[in-house]
Amino acid sequence: MFTSDTVTKFRDLPTPFYYYDLDVLNSTCRKVATESKYSGYKVHYAVKANPNPRILQIISSYGFGADCVSWNEIERAIGCGFKPSEIVFAGVGKTDMDITMALEAGILCFNCESVPEIEVIDSIAARLGKSAPIALRINPYIDAFTHKYITTGIEESKFGINTWELDEVMKRISGLGNTSLKGIHFHIGSQITRMSVFKSLCSRINELLDWFSSHNVELEIINVGGGLGIDYENPDVPARFEDYFCMINEFINLRGGQNIHIEPGRSLVGQCGSLISKVLFIKNGINTVFAIIDAGMTDLIRPALYQAHHRIENLTSPGSLYRYDVVGPVCESSDTFGKFIELPETRRGDIIAIRSAGAYGESMASRYNLRDLPKVVFSDEI
Ligand code: LLP
Repeated sequence: MFTSDTVTKFRDLPTPFYYYDLDVLNSTCRKVATESKYSGYKVHYAVKANPNPRILQIISSYGFGADCVSWNEIERAIGCGFKPSEIVFAGVGKTDMDITMALEAGILCFNCESVPEIEVIDSIAARLGKSAPIALRINPYIDAFTHKYITTGIEESKFGINTWELDEVMKRISGLGNTSLKGIHFHIGSQITRMSVFKSLCSRINELLDWFSSHNVELEIINVGGGLGIDYENPDVPARFEDYFCMINEFINLRGGQNIHIEPGRSLVGQCGSLISKVLFIKNGINTVFAIIDAGMTDLIRPALYQAHHRIENLTSPGSLYRYDVVGPVCESSDTFGKFIELPETRRGDIIAIRSAGAYGESMASRYNLRDLPKVVFSDEI
């Protein structure tokens, strides 16, 4: 929701830009901090959702850790106030250089996806005279019922270690001298809106906890990953944190000494950001009217890549409602933010907000067509 004062200020700013509402970000962080403190969970923010330094500084000020997927992310996170000892490092393809830097920095844990990866980590740790804390990312074979590109825990996924290989994996890693197994890790997908999916994950985790106990393996960290979805149609509504925390509390049967870790990305930052753009031209199509705006798929690729829905609002027109295809200027037909979208009568110069763009918006921007990267405006700057 934007006040008329904010919209007036938008008129004078060069577009397109990401607008981050820091009140929304802070209130979301407070909610997660309260819920996680109550439940005793450790939160690691998934930096890939939005690595903007100002956003990271705010999130780290709540005492959260970070979930990173490259040394560059780890370095950025440390620079923005996250403690190395509260950073986890995920990814199926960690490079030797990234592993070395992360070991030197003293991170909390490597979330590992294969035995060859663990062997490389072990040999680098041996060379550095260190012991590498690791967790096994396990593929639990649970359909997240989300877009197939962001489904990560089913049979054809490249992610995680197969459960039927666990015996062999444990044999191979028990012989390694410079890694120590701290826990297990899961991440079954993103933008998950069915709570029953998390319930299935909890049941699977319980089965695996039994398996590890029966093999006398002690685990401290039970990391359930991220994935909690947001309501793209209602951008002013926060994610269902209470339901999510209740679900995990109720259904995972922890043993003594075990702690739950979570890695929220989208749910923390999604609703605080909007992509603000101006209408360049209105153009008639055969069956539609195009509103061509100055933001494109280079600024926000989610609709083009995942057919994602983001609510689109005209902030400056009070007119009667018409339907438009809202499109960007990039030379691709997929550069479409929404088809047949109801908007008040829209004209050149009107200001358009594409909502719920705080996660995987700025972080996935590109310079295709040699376009400039989107600018950034924070609510306390205008
Ligand atoms: N943990 C791991 C290991 C992950 O791979 C991810 C996201 C997260 C946590 C955070 O998940 P979240 O809470 O944000 O759902 N670009 C896509 C999303 C890709 C998510 C990749 N992994 C999109 O725009 O929808």
